[in-house]
Amino acid sequence: MSIAITNTLLEKTRSLSIEETLAFLANEYKDKVVFSTSFGQEDQVITALIGQNDLPITIFTLDTGRLFQETYDVFHKTLKKYKKHIEVYFPEAAAVEELLNKKGPNSFYESVENRKECCFIRKVVPLTKALKGNAIWITGLRAEQSENRNDLEVFEYDGKFDIIKFNPLLKWTLKEVEDYLEKNNVPQNALHKQGFVSIGCAPCTRAITPDEDIRAGRWWWESSHKECGLHQK
Ligand code: ADX
Ligand code: SF4
Repeated sequence: MSIAITNTLLEKTRSLSIEETLAFLANEYKDKVVFSTSFGQEDQVITALIGQNDLPITIFTLDTGRLFQETYDVFHKTLKKYKKHIEVYFPEAAAVEELLNKKGPNSFYESVENRKECCFIRKVVPLTKALKGNAIWITGLRAEQSENRNDLEVFEYDGKFDIIKFNPLLKWTLKEVEDYLEKNNVPQNALHKQGFVSIGCAPCTRAITPDEDIRAGRWWWESSHKECGLHQK
């Protein structure tokens, strides 16, 4: 059933631009199309497309409580530039209190299990709330970001959250993303100029060197499976 829907969507949007596809989805699934932004470069392209075309798509962000100040700065600039509301989902206060009371503020460095526990509380639970009742989830995922993302499709059924994912920039290169941002004067995270490419929570993200993998700076102390539970199948 879900495969039939993703195939139909692919068929119906094959000849459309990204803006046209976003408009088509917003019309077809009225008030049930949401876009998650972490204010990364890819996400800023999608926000600009939604903002410039005044598309009726809800934009939301997961404020984990551990973001960089630079991320809040680009959040603020984006609000000012596009005058588009961005919904904020915060972790449950009681769950964060319990985690810190039990394990302290930096338990994520101690084991993969602890790290996943923190991501679950701060990201996965709020994401579940944000996606509830919606039909389409737009993301800024790109295939070349990692091996895990290489075999994704533009339209995918996500069984974990029971929703259809739309990944409009899946086949874009980083250069295409950067060029779009420059050309359209889109606000960007100041950390990109300091060697940060993929940016998540402050304690779990570092800058990378030019020869390193795009996601090498995320949970850099772990050796594999650099995902936090938002995008695992
Ligand atoms: S993550 O799973 O490793 O954290 P990544 O940072 O690559 O994901 O971002 C991929 C996509 O996940 C983004 O384009 C965005 O749609 C979504 N995403 C990641 N982090 C957040 C966040 N804090 N708030 C909202 N969406 C997010
Ligand atoms: Fe916690 Fe780090 Fe995951 Fe952020 S990325 S939720 S700080 S473990």
